[in-house]
Amino acid sequence: MSAPLLLVPHTEALTDASVAAYAAHYRFAALTRALALPPLSVIAEIEAAGLRGRGGAAFPTGRKWRLVHDQPERERYVVANGEEGEPGAFKDRYLLERDPLRVLEGMLIAAHAVSARTGFVYLNHHYRAIGAVLESLCAWLRANGRLGRDALGAGRDFDIEMRRARAAYVSGEETALFQAIEGRRAEPTGRPPFPTERGLFGKPTAINNVETFASIPLILELGARGYAAIGCDGSYGPKLFSVSGDVRAPGVIEEPLGVTLRALLARAGGVDGAFKCAFVSGPSGTLWTAADLDRALTIEHGVGNGAVIVCNDTRSALELVRALTDFFVAEHCGRCLPGRAGMQTLARTVAALEAGAAPAPARAAIEQAHALTAAAGKCALCPSATAIVPKLIAAFPEDFGAAVVPHERHGAD
Ligand SMILES: Cc1cc2nc3c(=O)[nH]c(=O)nc-3n(C[C@H](O)[C@H](O)[C@H](O)COP(=O)(O)O)c2cc1C
Ligand code: SF4
Repeated sequence: MSAPLLLVPHTEALTDASVAAYAAHYRFAALTRALALPPLSVIAEIEAAGLRGRGGAAFPTGRKWRLVHDQPERERYVVANGEEGEPGAFKDRYLLERDPLRVLEGMLIAAHAVSARTGFVYLNHHYRAIGAVLESLCAWLRANGRLGRDALGAGRDFDIEMRRARAAYVSGEETALFQAIEGRRAEPTGRPPFPTERGLFGKPTAINNVETFASIPLILELGARGYAAIGCDGSYGPKLFSVSGDVRAPGVIEEPLGVTLRALLARAGGVDGAFKCAFVSGPSGTLWTAADLDRALTIEHGVGNGAVIVCNDTRSALELVRALTDFFVAEHCGRCLPGRAGMQTLARTVAALEAGAAPAPARAAIEQAHALTAAAGKCALCPSATAIVPKLIAAFPEDFGAAVVPHERHGAD
């Protein structure tokens, strides 16, 4: 384990009382370096570093900014996605509580790169205290010439506003998030058009995850080559993992991309009990079983947002399927017909499984629902829900169909 680059260990969450001292000591070295470069050179640096978004979909950040930069429309926006509604995800909260200027500095650099004058930080509805501290921080930045008039140089204004989400996981989806900031119901509107062309208020928008923005100053500080030397092929840079569930020391852990699941779990104090499985990138991500313990946590393998929920072998896969289904059914917005239909099939099939239906046909029915939502759904929520459940059934078939076989099972005891 090398020295952390994104984590600020042993630091308390900022408060109104500590924010001015924190801001006064912050150097803005990366911003200074970025402002000395033309916007396209900054973008080229981010592209060369190979940074991919930390919010889940892992889109190349430099390419996203270039797409915004190249739009003919002059009004552009920068948005930091701090909704973080995925169960088991809490690393953005960590960054915003302890080192928010890293995130805001990343946003300022993005504003320079794409020529935006306004930025928004969209916060999870639980993050009330963070919102208040960020407001104080922005007031300090305005008073000290870091935000507002000429913040990016003579004649180049940039300011940042806070927005807090209503309680809805789906509002972290970028098009739903724009709706929420615009004062509408937070429901996905589908893509295209992509946010880089028509995003917030119909204007080109660079929307990135909080950790993605926090990674930007690091690239300017280390240089693209230095940054890309961390990690492994195609998966560059340090990554924050939110590790929770059946581990002895849950928390936010920094490791280079490419760390194995086994090594990450060791850093989390080891599994509490015998390892059964982990949800990587949370319940909307991928299922890793004991066969995957030595697999590398890379972009290619679906590291996504870095949430890792660990389950020991006291957990029944049927119990997990029920919990995930309850979550996703409650959180899907119902805006599109394929999503609604897919979630109805999921709910019905899981109820049948609990009543003793055989796992194989149940799995096939949910896989069919997945094909429908993935092909025609307006966002990735319902496709994710219908993807993870069949994987649990396939990995642990012995945990299902209990109601139709108790006699045989118990008879064998
Ligand atoms: C249902 C749903 C919820 C999402 N929630 C978040 C979130 O809380 N934070 C986030 O950064 N991205 C979230 N995303 C992904 C965003 O739509 C978007 O891809 C991301 O903010 C882009 O940032 P990045 O390129 O830096 O990863 C979510 C996507 C879906 C489908
Ligand atoms: S896929 Fe699901 S969550 Fe997404 S818009 Fe359709 S119904 Fe809503």
